[in-house]
Amino acid sequence: MVKHIVDTRQLTDRDFLHGIFSLADEMRDIRYGPGYVDWHKGKIVASLFYEPSTRTKMALDAAALRLGAKVVGTENAEIFSSYAKGELTEHSLWATQQAYDLVIMRHKEEGTPQRIASTLDVPLINAGDGKNQHPIQALKDVYTIHNEFKRLDGLKIVFVGDIAHGRTVRSLAYQLAHRENNAMSFVSTPELGLPTDMRDYLQRKGVRIHETSKLDEVIPDADILYVTRLQQERTANEEENARLTEEYKRFQITVERANRMKDSARIMHPLPINTTKSNGFPEIVPELDTSQKSLYFLQSNNGLFIGMAAIDIMLKQHAHHLYSLIGDVPRVP
Ligand code: NCD
Repeated sequence: MVKHIVDTRQLTDRDFLHGIFSLADEMRDIRYGPGYVDWHKGKIVASLFYEPSTRTKMALDAAALRLGAKVVGTENAEIFSSYAKGELTEHSLWATQQAYDLVIMRHKEEGTPQRIASTLDVPLINAGDGKNQHPIQALKDVYTIHNEFKRLDGLKIVFVGDIAHGRTVRSLAYQLAHRENNAMSFVSTPELGLPTDMRDYLQRKGVRIHETSKLDEVIPDADILYVTRLQQERTANEEENARLTEEYKRFQITVERANRMKDSARIMHPLPINTTKSNGFPEIVPELDTSQKSLYFLQSNNGLFIGMAAIDIMLKQHAHHLYSLIGDVPRVP
């Protein structure tokens, strides 16, 4: 049976993580050496995005191209595919899967990639499903953390902002829950705070959890501030959006707050950062973009190397030593 990457909990084996980190290092050498290899010449990757994306789609498309594969698909599948005619997403894939060797999919409905993957003959990589999972993002996050801190254990990580709607927070928290002795704080408003199923899962894994709305209290101790935007597209309406944006202002990472972090502490963000252009409010001030504390552009750029590694594994399947270390899809949410 073909394997798929749909949930971050499939990717928590220690040997898998170390293996994919060294593979990503190798991919970095390819990027800055020859620029590309022909390992997957003749292979075709389908890239189907039913929700907007900038970095994930560009990084994964470029990753496939740099490995010698070709990419087909659409970045606006909601409009430019038969989805616009009401077709079921599984029908679109069943009807086309002979055309490609791997499908990379982002969907706005939670659970769609998981549901469809088990019915496919080709491997699928979930590039984000609604509020649920974003396993590739979590891999690039832990790769970035590991490069910076030389460990994934014993970290104090503070998640700030829209915890309720953020698939990147869920995915990274689940990843780190499988390592030893990590403490997690969730800084948010009651409305945007930790969902019950997520709290239950983290507690079952024995993670020390702290939920608060007081950002300033947790800053001095944090190793990582993992900041997220208000997910405006997942709020009910304009009015709610305006109210939540107003409440969000108190979580903004300012220069003054960054200065109160430990010297070794770092700021991460999956990006994008909100702007006034989207009627939002930047959750990190632009002055911090070039601070040595800020890892977010590095974190984002690491997506290419992790993407190349993940695509290489999924295209080689059993011929790749890391393929067998990908776990089963968890049944629990
Ligand atoms: C994130 C996502 O799509 O979940 N972006 C990304 O893939 N880097 C975060 C977000 O949209 O807020």
